[in-house]
Amino acid sequence: MKFLKFNNSHLASEFVKEQIIKQIKTKPESILGLATGSTPIISYNLLVQDFQKNKTNWSKVKTFNLDEYIGLPTNHIQSYRYFMNDNLFNHINIDINNTYFPNSKNDYDKLIEKEGGIDLQILGIGTNGHIGFNEPGSKLTSLTRAVDLVEQTIKINADKFFNGNISLVPNKAFSMGLASILAAKKIILIALGNSKKETMQKLFKTKEFNSNFPASALIKHKDVIIVCDKECAPDGL
Ligand code: GLP
Repeated sequence: MKFLKFNNSHLASEFVKEQIIKQIKTKPESILGLATGSTPIISYNLLVQDFQKNKTNWSKVKTFNLDEYIGLPTNHIQSYRYFMNDNLFNHINIDINNTYFPNSKNDYDKLIEKEGGIDLQILGIGTNGHIGFNEPGSKLTSLTRAVDLVEQTIKINADKFFNGNISLVPNKAFSMGLASILAAKKIILIALGNSKKETMQKLFKTKEFNSNFPASALIKHKDVIIVCDKECAPDGL
């Protein structure tokens, strides 16, 4: 795991955007793994600005999102499909039929494999170390499946996205597993802000996989970049 520290969230997001553009330019038919949450929003905005300015060609790109809530219709404003359409897909020339989310009908890992595997996986991280919705207890061998969200995740997402109303937050989601994530050729995890500092500190110290801290699975991968802003960068970086 290679940690990079940037002076602010904009510069960190700029780096992530650049890596995505580089990937698409090097391989126009790239398969991207994408994340939702508040963290990647700036990076997606920068990708939209890049498209408006430079017309980067997304027409052959395929995307696989990490996770999706169970129980929210796809047109619900808090569904991850809505989030991605709204923050990125509606503003670039991607073919919407080439944008995938895990659901009860697809065999997601097979589908990803059939497309040739994920070239670049973008990740956020929960304060409890979840990646995708792989909550503590997730196995290293886990594939895409329905998962139960832990109370802390529901509470945080309620505060961030559901006006603090816990009862509106689904308690289940489909999520790519840790093994699904580790199958990606390259991984970039982005963390921003002071609330992720302790989590980054833990990740920085990781020497082996510990299922109580799912992001520690990344230690098993050869090409992982952890992008932090100044506020969440671990001490000693
Ligand atoms: C969410 C998502 C994750 C995301 C994480 C952090 O619940 N399922 O994919 O990375 O939690 O979210 P945020 O970026 O809002 O802190």
